[in-house]
Amino acid sequence: MTEAHESLPRFAPYEKGRFQLTLGIKEIPVADWIDVDGHYAEHMAEKKRLLDARHGEVFDGLPGSLPAQRECLEAVLAHMSAHRPDLVAVEGGEIRTAWDGARLLRSAFEAAPLDLAGRLVQEDLCLMQPSDEGHRLIAASLCFPARWRLADKLGRPMSAIHDPVPGFNDKLNRPVERFFGGIAEGQLYMRLNWSVIDDPTLFQATGHGRRERDPSITPQNVSERLHIRIERQTFRRLSGTGVLVFGIKTIVDPIAVVANRPGLAAAMLGSLRTMPSDMQGYKSMAPFVDPLETWLSQAAETDSRP
Ligand code: HEM
Repeated sequence: MTEAHESLPRFAPYEKGRFQLTLGIKEIPVADWIDVDGHYAEHMAEKKRLLDARHGEVFDGLPGSLPAQRECLEAVLAHMSAHRPDLVAVEGGEIRTAWDGARLLRSAFEAAPLDLAGRLVQEDLCLMQPSDEGHRLIAASLCFPARWRLADKLGRPMSAIHDPVPGFNDKLNRPVERFFGGIAEGQLYMRLNWSVIDDPTLFQATGHGRRERDPSITPQNVSERLHIRIERQTFRRLSGTGVLVFGIKTIVDPIAVVANRPGLAAAMLGSLRTMPSDMQGYKSMAPFVDPLETWLSQAAETDSRP
């Protein structure tokens, strides 16, 4: 049927086999804030390309966000100096990035310190400020959006940001704000979000809500055409400004990572079958959900024992 992909997926948020719209958060050590994987250099190069070519779409901040941007940059520099000095070296007013051998001048980013922070890590970084309406997006370095535009969300609170997400405002907005309110300095939390997608591009500004069947995707070519897109999302409070840093680390794997892993294939199938149709529609899975389910059923039956 398909070639098995060699490496096991690092994260499998569909493994419970049942779709649930939940917070799904867990506390992790602060040392695990920034996640570095084998795509580091490739992702950093793609970020640089996007920041050069379409800066206005991938970076922005409200005028009042500078203190939080500065604090976030210092937190990223402290983290990378402590945990990955091989990748990021702070040398006075210069920051050396090992992936391309460049030297970035801190002084060049005085008006946008978060832009510099985003050029050092694979994560996208969003700054969320507490307000009467809930946490509000005040700045972001956002090179790998999963089908949304920074310009549409900047300045808006969580409820408005998530307006297009089926069920969010009814079921999740209050628990999320309660969770955010309880995050103290020195704590780090994470959650995973996942989708199956037909386009592995990291920067996707649009694409939610496609419902028309794509006849070019068949059970025979699912393993070449489809990908699993996972977001490892992190939440950390900055002690000085009280702003929350929302980190989004994007991982795109070929769907073939679950081929010949019947347990994972069965779990993903179970998650798809229990996903409400409005959520499937929102996630643009309708164009290929039928061939995907056929392919997963076959993969779930494949005996991988030698
Ligand atoms: C515990 C916290 C959070 C939860 C439970 C949550 C949950 C969700 C869910 C379930 C979706 C639909 C995802 C999908 O396509 O599969 C979503 C989309 C999204 N989330 Fe969150 N989220 C959280 C935090 C945040 C934060 C802090 C931001 C700030 C930027 C954010 C921005 C977005 C955006 C922009 C979308 C896409 C909305 C659109 O289609 O226009 N989320 N979120």
